[in-house]
Amino acid sequence: MTTAIVFRRATDRDASSLATLAEKTFRDTYAQFNTPENMEHHCSKSFGEHIQLAEIRDAGRESWLGEIDGQLVAFAQLIVDKPCSAVPGKRGSEVLRFYVDASQHGKGVAYRMMDHLAGRATELGAAVMWLCVWDQNAHAVGFYERCRFEKVGTTTFQLGTETQHDFVMSRAL
Ligand SMILES: CC(C)(COP(=O)(O)OP(=O)(O)OC[C@H]1O[C@@H](n2cnc3c(N)ncnc32)[C@H](O)[C@@H]1OP(=O)(O)O)[C@@H](O)C(=O)NCCC(=O)NCCS
Repeated sequence: MTTAIVFRRATDRDASSLATLAEKTFRDTYAQFNTPENMEHHCSKSFGEHIQLAEIRDAGRESWLGEIDGQLVAFAQLIVDKPCSAVPGKRGSEVLRFYVDASQHGKGVAYRMMDHLAGRATELGAAVMWLCVWDQNAHAVGFYERCRFEKVGTTTFQLGTETQHDFVMSRAL
């Protein structure tokens, strides 16, 4: 069954709750695979009320929140106009972060959020939506493939002292 979820753009007042959910979901997903030092390094430079406030105010980025009964359970960020190097010549939007709280996995929330982002990226004039995902994150890669994303390249991601390998995945809109 698909849980009833409402999506809205984050405002300044959401910075604190967005920071909390962003750090929680990042730790839930990756703490088991990384050293505490690398996790601390990444979290301290990526999450915090002032950091998410700056992201919310960034004119080139849209932060979307998913709420169930007024409770924040998911978020995603869209870089409005960023072409994918693996898909040249097409106007692109990058999905920079895509996280659903573990309590809502397997309930259709992620599909609803992806549909919402695809609709929004189309509205913004994108022909392609794309993202980077850790190549060991089989759950997310499987989900993106179910959402019609295809692997189009590879890139790296620096987590503290460790260089990790990502797939670049894209989907035509
Ligand atoms: C990735 C995420 C958004 C997926 O949402 P979800 O609600 O957990 O997704 P589901 O468990 O319903 O799975 C979605 C689909 O992916 C498929 N899938 C799940 N794990 C898979 C795997 N290991 N291999 C292949 N496919 C897989 C499922 O079969 C399912 O397809 P179905 O609907 O046909 O059954 C969510 O788990 C999440 O937020 N994870 C933590 C954050 C994260 O990893 N974000 C991505 C960062 S790039």
